[in-house]
Amino acid sequence: TPADATWAQNHSLWMELPTRPTLFDFQGISMIKYFTDNWENIQNFEARPDDILIASYPKAGTTWVCYMLDLLYFGNMCPERQTSVPLHERVPFLEICAPPRPKGTDLADQLSTSPRLIKTHLPVQFVPKSFWEQRCRIVYVARNPKDSVVSHYHFSRVNRILPEVGDWSTFLQDFMEGKMVFGSWYEHVNSWWEKKQTYSNLHYMFYEDLSENFGRETDRLCSFLGLSPSAEEKEKVRAAVMFDNMKQDKMANFSSTIQTMNQDVSPFMRKGKVADWKNHFTVSQNEHFDEDYKQKMKNHALCFRTEI
Ligand code: A3P
Repeated sequence: TPADATWAQNHSLWMELPTRPTLFDFQGISMIKYFTDNWENIQNFEARPDDILIASYPKAGTTWVCYMLDLLYFGNMCPERQTSVPLHERVPFLEICAPPRPKGTDLADQLSTSPRLIKTHLPVQFVPKSFWEQRCRIVYVARNPKDSVVSHYHFSRVNRILPEVGDWSTFLQDFMEGKMVFGSWYEHVNSWWEKKQTYSNLHYMFYEDLSENFGRETDRLCSFLGLSPSAEEKEKVRAAVMFDNMKQDKMANFSSTIQTMNQDVSPFMRKGKVADWKNHFTVSQNEHFDEDYKQKMKNHALCFRTEI
């Protein structure tokens, strides 16, 4: 768009901006080339038994949880890490392959931490088999679909590695039909939930719970990971990942590090609220969505608070 062009010229980034990709069917899931181009290396990725995978459908609060985990494990170790290493290098995004940025698999291979924290948005059936074979711990983050789609809409407007977005109502309809990067939200959250029933090393958590009671959710996460931080350490983590603090944190807000987003239009750390969907859905969109949601979720045990 002209706004993108002006922004790019002002930032001297015109040559670096990637072309907006198009969605295509990839083994039954809508994907884009930036997440499939490195497929062989992704599938053959060698997980280690102490790796921790942080999985989610996009815009569920993944970055929030990645930062929590990074601080819980390494917050005390090395203060420079927090001020000089971008979060997406501390917690690589496994499937990303958008040159000139390094591939996620390479960043993960180069990590010298133990455990390694690795992020993915892959549907459960695409997760490299070594994670299951090594019985790695996995933290899955889910967020109610209405806030997820709103967040995704704003993010897609500004992030040029994602497909071109049309208007809000078309985007909402596409979300309901699963025509999104990483496929259908409904299939993603439900198949990961089903996996949890047979794979005990999976902790399934919700954005809304984290927002409602951060301390309780931190305790649950720590108990799953076998961590026992002191009250003081927990307080440090809480303060660092509070929305307003993270928004100012250049290592976590993607402002100085990732050059594919025009954050003047919409910042990565946008609102961080539960129920912002109420500012976007019309009454009839909401009724239509609720009806469709009921149908799609009726045979699943998983339940989201879509009314709040
Ligand atoms: P909004 O667009 O609704 O503000 P992801 O990291 O999976 O891409 O998710 C991004 C969403 O999580 C954005 O939602 C972002 O603002 C929100 N988020 C990130 N850090 C947060 C924090 N510390 N507290 C609350 N929300 C946070």
